[in-house]
Amino acid sequence: MATSLIGGLVQSGVPANQILVSEPRDEAREQIGQRFGVRVFAENHEVAEVAEILVLAVKPQVMRDALDSISPSVAGRSILFISIAAGITVSSLEAGLGGSPRIVRVMPNTPALVGAGISGLFANCAASASDKAHANLILQAVGKTVWLTEEKLLDAVTAISGSGPAYFFYMLEALQAAAEAEGLDAKTARLLTIETALGASRLALAASESVATLRKQVTSPGGTTEAALNVLQSEDVFDAYVRAVAAARRRADELSRELHPTNETTT
Ligand SMILES: NC(=O)c1ccc[n+]([C@@H]2O[C@H](COP(=O)([O-])OP(=O)(O)OC[C@H]3O[C@@H](n4cnc5c(N)ncnc54)[C@H](OP(=O)(O)O)[C@@H]3O)[C@@H](O)[C@H]2O)c1
Repeated sequence: MATSLIGGLVQSGVPANQILVSEPRDEAREQIGQRFGVRVFAENHEVAEVAEILVLAVKPQVMRDALDSISPSVAGRSILFISIAAGITVSSLEAGLGGSPRIVRVMPNTPALVGAGISGLFANCAASASDKAHANLILQAVGKTVWLTEEKLLDAVTAISGSGPAYFFYMLEALQAAAEAEGLDAKTARLLTIETALGASRLALAASESVATLRKQVTSPGGTTEAALNVLQSEDVFDAYVRAVAAARRRADELSRELHPTNETTT
């Protein structure tokens, strides 16, 4: 995820020498430096001592170690912290950093790898309008952004856009299998299904109508689409999506509480 952000920022015109990266693994560090021309460091505190905006992009399980490694260097300095770690709450980041840090918590998704991500963002009380603008610019380097007014809604974002690529991949898997069962070769099945998903998404983005209206517009009475949708409706696929998203949102909340046993339940 950090590599996507670095690539997006460099591509969007941020001078590479203004981006400082801390990466503990020698090989990965060398690769990042060579690929993007950014300045690389082996120790987190080397970056924390000079950065004005610090993006925390470690796995949730190692966030505590990462915060311990930077907290002495950031004490008393004016820094905006942006965390993309799933489930690590603002209050836990505040406790780990000490003082009254300015924090933006972000839930990105993997299409960020190709600049087509969407991120949900939430700012704590200490973060200013200018901090939010900076965080927005950074995440917009890899896609679109939406701002949330309540931190717990990040669990819903996790369940929709964080986990969402997998729902679409699952649908594409099923459609490709169906295409092959109908006699199309694998390459054609792949092209037809992926291009249809992309085309439908682009049409939905461009249209002023709701997706329900778009669906009705391509469903002629007694036609082929209606025959297919009748099967999906009789199998309660609509409700299955609603239940699947609720399960993901509950799991996001559970995982967050496993990381911070004192968090309140939001299910
Ligand atoms: N991938 C997603 O779809 C996604 C979506 C939303 C949010 N996120 C969040 O994004 C964060 C990063 O995920 P990822 O998939 O990009 O993980 P990742 O590929 O494992 O990247 C984490 C990076 O942090 C480095 N690291 C490990 N310990 C460190 C330490 N103590 N100090 C500094 N750097 C350290 C790792 O180095 P090594 O190479 O040595 O391990 C690795 O380069 C996670 O918190 C995740 O919850 C990910």
